[in-house]
Amino acid sequence: MAAVVDTIKSTIAENFGGASHSLANTEHQFDLSETPDQTGKVAVVTGGSEGIGYGCTYTLLSHNISKLFILSLSQEVVDGAVKNIEEEMGPEAARKVTWLKCDVGDWKAVTQTAQEIASKTDRLDILILNAARGIMTYQLTDYGVDRHMAVNHFGHVILTSHLLPLMKSTAKKGNTVRIVTLGSNAHQATPSDCKLESLDELNTDLGPNGQYGRSKLAQMLYAKYLNKHLTQGKEPKILANTVHPGFVDTKMSQKDIHEPYPLGGYAMSVGMKTFKKDQWQGCVSAMYAATKTERSGEYICPPAIPEKGNALFQDEKLAESLMALTRKVIKEKMYAESVEKGCSMEFY
Ligand SMILES: NC(=O)c1ccc[n+]([C@@H]2O[C@H](COP(=O)([O-])OP(=O)(O)OC[C@H]3O[C@@H](n4cnc5c(N)ncnc54)[C@H](OP(=O)(O)O)[C@@H]3O)[C@@H](O)[C@H]2O)c1
Repeated sequence: MAAVVDTIKSTIAENFGGASHSLANTEHQFDLSETPDQTGKVAVVTGGSEGIGYGCTYTLLSHNISKLFILSLSQEVVDGAVKNIEEEMGPEAARKVTWLKCDVGDWKAVTQTAQEIASKTDRLDILILNAARGIMTYQLTDYGVDRHMAVNHFGHVILTSHLLPLMKSTAKKGNTVRIVTLGSNAHQATPSDCKLESLDELNTDLGPNGQYGRSKLAQMLYAKYLNKHLTQGKEPKILANTVHPGFVDTKMSQKDIHEPYPLGGYAMSVGMKTFKKDQWQGCVSAMYAATKTERSGEYICPPAIPEKGNALFQDEKLAESLMALTRKVIKEKMYAESVEKGCSMEFY
């Protein structure tokens, strides 16, 4: 009976808003006020201008991060974010932000943006892979790849791979580097026969929930893969974890959900509003993984509860298949822009 009660408490803490985090066990508590001082550190947050990503940006700046790069799409949104930072934390905090307009689904732009970041900093301590296409309809990118996978997984792998030399040199100087991918409990919407073996498979329309869920599974498997090959390999000071932020009241769950479900989406955008976390609660697990944890290879749910994830996430071979396919697709689609120009496509 005690185990059942614990499970119910964790489920509420992990997913819902209000005072839910207080239900987690003491050893799995984490509050944004416990974020360690970030003086001297440098971070990259994709989608750091709104929602959960902005929660991360704001928290890092309010804990004295020295430099922060935001990659996102909308000038208007990032202007609003920086204005808010300036008003609440002062002009010096706002000056620490560099915005780089970059569609993470545009792999060539991602490569150029990574190079620009590397030219503007000599260290990188935190990489939060947060930007995403939410529960939306199926689309193909110009490269002929499902847009959910292209943005949520492939674009982030390209960004990370190009930034790895910087993270390795930061770690070599004795610093702990933390990579965080934004997973989701929606990874459970991936069909159980998923193999991640071919582009045709990725380009099969599974419907809005399946498309999104599979891309979140990919982001989660990528963190596990990095832990296995990078952290457990030669780079013990580079930690890689994935997080679920909870059910959070952001553009994704307010607006984007109406694209595939014009009327049905109201159940999520309006009906569930009082149960959702706000963006500050929604960034807690990401902040724990980005600033506090000393462990790697975990799937962390709010506030700081390690979970197992489903059978697909636990399947080591699936992570290997995903990354073999990722290498193949990127090489095929990006040879001229990237591989030919000297990118070794090293993932670890
Ligand atoms: N909200 C939830 O309940 C929930 C639950 C589980 C997991 N998550 C995950 O949490 C993460 C953040 O979600 P959120 O709810 O905070 O979403 P959000 O409020 O919609 O914010 C998404 C951010 O990502 C940026 N973005 C989207 N597509 C992009 C692209 N192609 N290239 C570059 N930037 C892009 C957006 O930039 P612009 O504003 O410039 O467009 C925005 O800054 C996502 O990975 C999501 O899957 C969310």
